[in-house]
Formats: sequence, structure tokens, C-alpha cells
Amino acid sequence: MSNAHLAEPFRIKMVEPLKIISKQQRIEAIKRAGYNPFLLKSDEVYIDLLTDSGTGAMSDNQWAGLMLGDESYAGSRNFQNLEKSVEEIFGYKLVIPTHQGRGAEQILFPQLIKKGQFVLGNMHFDTTKAHIEISGGLAKNFIIQEAFDTQKEHPFKGNIDVQKMEDFIKEKGTKNIAFILITITCNSAGGQPVSMQNIKEVKSCAKKYGIRVFFDSARYAENAYFIKQREEKYKDTSISKIIKEMFSYGDGTTVSAKKDGLVNIGGLLCFKDDVALFKKCQSMCVVMEGFPTYGGLSGRDMECLARGLKEGIEEEYLKYRINQVKYLGESLSEAGVPVQLPIGGHAVFVDAAKLLPHIPSSQFPAHALANELYIKSGIRAVEIGSLLLGRDPQTHEQQKSPMELLRLTIPRRVYTYNHMDFIADALINISKDAKSVKGVKFTYEPEILRHFTARFEVAE
Ligand code: F0G
Repeated sequence: MSNAHLAEPFRIKMVEPLKIISKQQRIEAIKRAGYNPFLLKSDEVYIDLLTDSGTGAMSDNQWAGLMLGDESYAGSRNFQNLEKSVEEIFGYKLVIPTHQGRGAEQILFPQLIKKGQFVLGNMHFDTTKAHIEISGGLAKNFIIQEAFDTQKEHPFKGNIDVQKMEDFIKEKGTKNIAFILITITCNSAGGQPVSMQNIKEVKSCAKKYGIRVFFDSARYAENAYFIKQREEKYKDTSISKIIKEMFSYGDGTTVSAKKDGLVNIGGLLCFKDDVALFKKCQSMCVVMEGFPTYGGLSGRDMECLARGLKEGIEEEYLKYRINQVKYLGESLSEAGVPVQLPIGGHAVFVDAAKLLPHIPSSQFPAHALANELYIKSGIRAVEIGSLLLGRDPQTHEQQKSPMELLRLTIPRRVYTYNHMDFIADALINISKDAKSVKGVKFTYEPEILRHFTARFEVAE
């Protein structure tokens, strides 16, 4: 691999010191945390790869915007700026701010889902699935099969198998389908993009049956960058045009602005032209989030977002961002650590089932790897596998996830290439003695969203 990489397209104006505690202290800390990295204190973590959500660094321009917060309860100037940014980028005129992505989901989903209806998608994110279920719906995934083979290269592993989805629509009947939700990029499959061609095909299938299409767009800018790189037809199209075209095939979107929006808190619920639905959601926003021109955000937060949305689609920034993640992924892959290929947008997903074949899925190999990584190097990462998936709601049997992944999620504009080298070295060292890593078993298992608060011991 060439070590030549793009230097960061920014210089650093303010620094946040990092400390690394001793190995003995880390062993004590993870034990106290019940072998669950979610329960560590952030001061006990050296490099935090738990999530790319709300963990990015704002620019000087965004921090300057913070000082221009108009904290009027209604009609804030900053809301108007936000509306303008959204229309300019997504092409959607009808905008509701929310405190984060799930704030938008909790307003929209009950409006669209009747009890027992299915919400079809590539692969629903876990809190999104939970919101579908709370609203009485059933979440159904139609991601292409290639997504489940980490070593198989495919340019758009986030794509929907449209034929399979159409067969399902025919089998269940359109009255049993609430809507289609395309997650861009597809987080749960490894930050994998969805092609424009696939979005178009989903739209034309939806149109045939009169079904609405929404986007779950936390990482839409990264998705657009991949389209430009990998879909021949778009190689000379600007990111801005690609994004507009993507959203032209949808009726609206929920957005977690904590990712590509480059803010620490914020979300959006936007519609193309369904004024009736927009108005219903505005009313629900008042009840659940706040008055529709602030929706759970302060004026200054909205200003940072109005500016962040624009910075998040700049091509130079995206090039640096995607290449930094790729650099880490390729460093690992070339040293024999199995990762989801090609490397996704926001994270490198290590295939723990392949790396630790001696640990059964019931002892959560990716979670065991997360603990080992913390003990050896102070890096915090997160399991995306059987622990996250949970038990079958009817039988209460532990479900076996098709993949056992450890997500090394890279915050935006926060860590440098030297940090990437440190992370790669730590995992490569573990992989050399992979057999010594032991699985985990529960000492405390909460009933819902258990992975956040569960406690474990090392399985002997
Ligand atoms: N949709 C996707 C695809 C997400 O990745 C997330 C959050 C949400 C919706 C919910 O948005 O957190 O703003 O309420 N993902 C974070 C993660 C938490 O770590 O991947 P939110």
C-alpha cells in the first residue's frame, strides 16, 4: 500500500489534550465497567471510536455562527438560514428541525404506519427499527446478499434487492406496506453506499405500487461521494448535483445532522411537496420536540447546522474524509486483518467472526475484541453483531447475526493519520495472537437495547 495520503485540509486552531492511562488502570476500568466499553468514563479512553455521531469538530466558521444565535421562540433568523441551506442542498422546501435523527423518526413514523404494516428498506438502523416497532410497524430488510460477505468486493453493498422487495410487496399486498426507507449510507452493513441506479429502481418500483419513498440520511454526503467515485455516469457531476438528484427520487427524509451535518447535536425532518403530511408533523413537533421553528434546538445550534450542512458537501473535505477511513481499512486488510470490503464511509468494520473463529456467536466475538482492543491500547470501539441484534421477541432465543463486526467509527475532522496508524498497529498486534482472546457471557442482561447497559464476565 502506498503510504502517500492526503494531508488534512485544515489546520488546527484549538486542541483537546488526550491522556492514556496505564494498562493496569485500563484492566481495572473495563472490569469495573462490566466488560462493556459503553460503561467506561470518557477519561479512561485514549482514542474514542464508539461513534461518528455528534463527535465531529466544528469549523471556525461554525463556532462564529454560534455567537449569532437568535433565541426567539418563534421565527428565529437561524431557522430561516437553516431552511435556506436545506433547500439549497436537498432541494426540499418543507423543513422541521429536531433535536437529532430519532426526534424526526418519532414524529414521522406514527403518521405513516398503521399497526402491522411493513417498512421496507436496505437495512434499518437499530433505533430506527425500534421507532418503526413502537409505531406498530415491522421493519424488513432487503439489502443485497453481497453485503453479508465481507471479503467480496461490490461497489454498492448498501443496495436494495429490488426484485426481492417487489416480490414481497406482491405477496403482502400494498395495503400492508407503510413506506420504503432507504438508509444512505447503509450504516449497519458497514457504511456502504447505495447507487443512484438502485435509488432510481427503488423509486420506480415504489411508484408502480403507489408507495412512498423516504431516506434515512445521516451520511448522504458520503453516499454522494461514493456515487461520484464508483458510478461511471457521475464521475464529472458535482457532489451538490448528485445529492439533489438522489433526493429528487424521495418524498422526504429524516436526517441525523450529527454526522454529515457536522454538528454535535441536531436533526431534520424534510418533505419535498406533501404539505398535508408536513403540517401534521409540524403539529406533532410542537408536542414532542418544540415549536416548529426550533424543534428541540437552540438558535445557535441551528446556525451551526445551517453552516455545517454546506461544509459537509465540499468535495475536498469529503475526499480527505473518505480517504482517511480507507487508509485505516487498507492498513488492516493488507496486514491480514479481515474487514468489510470495500471500506465504507464512516467506519472500518472488522470481521470478528473471521478473526476469532474460536469464539462462538453466543459469546459475542466482536464485543470480546472491543474489550481486548481497549485493554491493549485504550481504543474504544463498538460491536455490531449478535449482541446488538438481541433475542427473538417471540421465542427469546439469542439470534445469530449474519455478521459479527467490530466498528471502528471515525469522528469527522478529529483524529489525524498518526492516530490511524496507532489504531491499525493495535489491531494488527491483537490479530497476531488472536487465539488468546476469550469470549464473554452476561452477568446482567437488560430486556431492551441491552448492549448499552449489559454487564459481562470473561468466558473461560
Ligand atoms: N439513522 C442512522 C442510519 C443512524 O446511523 C443513526 C444514528 C440514526 C438514524 C439516529 O440518529 O442518533 O441522531 O438520533 N447513528 C449513531 C451511530 C448513533 O452511532 O451510528 P440520532
